[in-house]
This record gives sequence, structure tokens and C-alpha cells, in this order.
Amino acid sequence: MLEKFSKWKQVFTTTEGKTLELNLDPTNIPKHVAIIMDGNGRWAAERGLPRIAGHREGVKNVNKIVRASNALNVEVLTLYAFSTENWKRPKAEVDFLLKLPERYLKTELPTLIKENVQVRLMGTKDQLPSYTLGAFEEAIEKTKNNTGLILNFAMNYGSRFEMSQAMQAIAEKVKAGELQPDEINEDLIGAHLMSGQLRDPDLLIRTSGEIRLSNFMLWQLAYSEFWFTDVLWPNFSEAHFHEAIATYQNRGRRYGGL
Ligand code: FPP
Repeated sequence: MLEKFSKWKQVFTTTEGKTLELNLDPTNIPKHVAIIMDGNGRWAAERGLPRIAGHREGVKNVNKIVRASNALNVEVLTLYAFSTENWKRPKAEVDFLLKLPERYLKTELPTLIKENVQVRLMGTKDQLPSYTLGAFEEAIEKTKNNTGLILNFAMNYGSRFEMSQAMQAIAEKVKAGELQPDEINEDLIGAHLMSGQLRDPDLLIRTSGEIRLSNFMLWQLAYSEFWFTDVLWPNFSEAHFHEAIATYQNRGRRYGGL
């Protein structure tokens, strides 16, 4: 239970009844936080509700974490909202998930504009229905001159597909004589990924107790710090977000050096 929430300090009681005080270092906030928002289905099942009720609750939580990220001056927040593998789910659930951006942006876009947030989309666009893509395009256009938090939705995103697309694009350039094979380096590959000019995530959070990457930003997460929690996404609070960042701040990032 959250007792106090200020920009840098939180005091809260854990489910085990312990009081936890978190003081964040404002000079060491992860610039890019990526989140695998998992556990909506289980949140719903625990309450005897249909899975879509969990996704609906999950959307509400997006708001909370966007606000918290903005307050802490996080520069980029990438949210894994729909993977290339999620098409395998029952059609009704897929349809519901694909309608979420429109639903979310219809109510939240004015606030996002006001709060200086820049909306972005990372994923294969041509398979998305027009209502999903259209909602994102409108939000991207209306927030393109904002300068605050980049809110990057990974939608119809899969890392291996992203990498194969990048390899194809690079191969085409080599074939056309625009590029020499020895000019292919890490920066060039990175620039051909869907994350484009975004810096790599500093911190990856996955909720719901699953300890895997599920085809998410495999290239970009090479040196990121990982934080896993058993908390289901709809229950993931500002306090948990601060806890993840406090843990990040206690890690020594050496990038393979000493
Ligand atoms: C994984 O939980 C979650 C998803 C596949 C969807 C995540 C989407 C949101 C939280 C909302 C996104 C919001 C916008 C605005 C696009 P799961 O269903 O796999 O949960 P389970 O593992 O408990 O079944």
C-alpha cells in the first residue's frame, strides 16, 4: 500500500507488512525503460472474469506508469502491447487487443498532448487494422512537436521479424551497390531496426513472474538491466515502478568492462 508518493521518495508497506522506503537518485534515472506488461489474463482469472477484463484493467495501468515515467524524467517508455505471436490467440481476444489503442487514445490523447508526451509506434504496420493504425497515426501526428516522454508502443512487434527485415533492407542496399559488406556494423544494423533512432533500453521490466524475453527487443536489450516481478500487470503500481528503478540504481553497469 502506497503511503507517500513524491517525485523521488516513496514509503510503502509491502504485502508482507514491511515498510519500504525508496529514495531515488535523480541523476541516475534509466533513460529508456521497456516493459513486458504480462499477467492481464491471470488477473482476470483470479476474479472469475473474462480475459478481456484483465486487458481493460491493464490499459488503466498504462496511464499510471506513463505519468510516473514522465514525473521521473524517463526519456523513453516502450510498452509491449501486442506481439507478432499474439495473433495465435482466439479471434475475440485479438480483436479486443487491437481495439485497445483506439479506446485508450480516444480518452487519453488530449492529456498526452497536454503533458508533452510524444506517441510512437514500433511494429509491422501493414497487418494492423485501419482503426488501430489510424488511432496511432493521429496520436503520432498530434504529438510530433512535443518534447517530453516518448511513449513507444510495440504493437504487432516481434524481434526476430524486425531483424530479418533489417537484414533484407541491408542486403538490398548491398545488391544495389549503395553499401559495401564491410560497412555493415552494429550502428548500421541498429539504425535499420524498428526502434530506429531510439537509444537502447537501460531497464527492462517484466511483470507476472515469467522470466523470458518473448521475442522482445533481442538486439536492443544486449546490455540492459533486467527486473522481474511476480506482480501482475494490472496490479503494478508507481511504488513497484520506483522499486524497479531503485534496484536499477544499485546495479553496476560495466558493459563487459571492469
Ligand atoms: C499479456 O498478458 C498482455 C498482453 C498480450 C496485452 C498487453 C496489453 C495491455 C496491457 C494494454 C495495452 C494498452 C494499449 C493502450 C495498447 P496475458 O494476457 O498474456 O496474461 P496471462 O499471461 O496472465 O494470460
